[in-house]
Amino acid sequence: MKTIFSGIQPSGTITLGNYIGAIMQFTELQHEYNCYFCVVDQHAITVQQDRLQLRKNIKSLAALYLASGIDPDHSTIFIQSEVPAHAQAGWMLQCVTYMGELERMTQFKDKSEGKETVSSGLFTYPALMVGDILLYKTDVVPVGDDQKQHIELTRDIAERFNKKYNDIFTIPEIRISKNGARIMSLQDPLKKMSKSDENQKATITILDDPKQIEKKIKSAVTDSEGIVRYDKDNKPGVSNLLNIYSILGKISIEELEAKYEGKGYGEFKSDLAEVVVNAIKPIQDRYYELIDSKELDDILDQGADKANTVAYKMVKKMENAMGLGRKRK
Ligand code: AQP
Repeated sequence: MKTIFSGIQPSGTITLGNYIGAIMQFTELQHEYNCYFCVVDQHAITVQQDRLQLRKNIKSLAALYLASGIDPDHSTIFIQSEVPAHAQAGWMLQCVTYMGELERMTQFKDKSEGKETVSSGLFTYPALMVGDILLYKTDVVPVGDDQKQHIELTRDIAERFNKKYNDIFTIPEIRISKNGARIMSLQDPLKKMSKSDENQKATITILDDPKQIEKKIKSAVTDSEGIVRYDKDNKPGVSNLLNIYSILGKISIEELEAKYEGKGYGEFKSDLAEVVVNAIKPIQDRYYELIDSKELDDILDQGADKANTVAYKMVKKMENAMGLGRKRK
């Protein structure tokens, strides 16, 4: 059976973007693959986090993986910092990654733009991500398309390591969902929806209540044409809403255009709000059962045990390949 690895940062409550771009793929693929789904908390600290909020977000994200339908009997769900091999592999791989490669990462450019101080972790974190993936002999990485560059880097580094040291890494493939590759901000449809966006109106989080969802969709930026039509270049706002509607409502964009022909944005938006609420309501119900439960801690303990066993073996192989440590007589 082939292996999947993917992770999400607990840098806020996950948005519809994370859910559609990543988690929906996880639940769809989980029974065909040996899966590892990680809460990448070490990635989250590349930017300033409030420690209590971070702790809360870590468990919340793990509960949301489960509440979204990831079955812990089939998949390994764990927290990155509970598996020390990630940081160990990250360091070794930093030493195989070139500065020029990291300088080309657009996510670093976006996240550091306009900031007076930026942590060196934000710059080098793609190497940590390379390690996350390679530790599990991952064949496939399901992500949204903003992560494409990081997966290409992972492939380059794995090939370089295999050639330079020893052929120990599997070269992973990227998997991007067809329509939900990039869900856009509701306030600026040229920018992707991000869980750390300071403008709360720009995102719908998976834990928003029906009133908040309705309000946010009603105030989503559209255009003055008043026609529900998919045209990504000229009508990015409406096209984004159509995309969300189509994926969560399981209805094609053509059918939606026909359904709303001659109708304004008001009715379209209010139906979309209903579709979103109905899609996330069961997730929220299960989330509130899980969040303070022993069941959640038990699942995370088991996940950490399994991940530690697998990842430790690969770290030892890496150290061996690079000549670190010693061989006992
Ligand atoms: N808007 C999006 N549309 C589709 N997929 C998305 N992803 C993120 N935003 C969208 C996918 O979600 C997964 C988790 O991403 P991450 O938490 O590791 O970091 P990110 O890509 O930087 O996500 P955010 O929400 O934008 O987080 P912050 O605000 O902390 O930077 C990935 O598979 C990603 O592609």
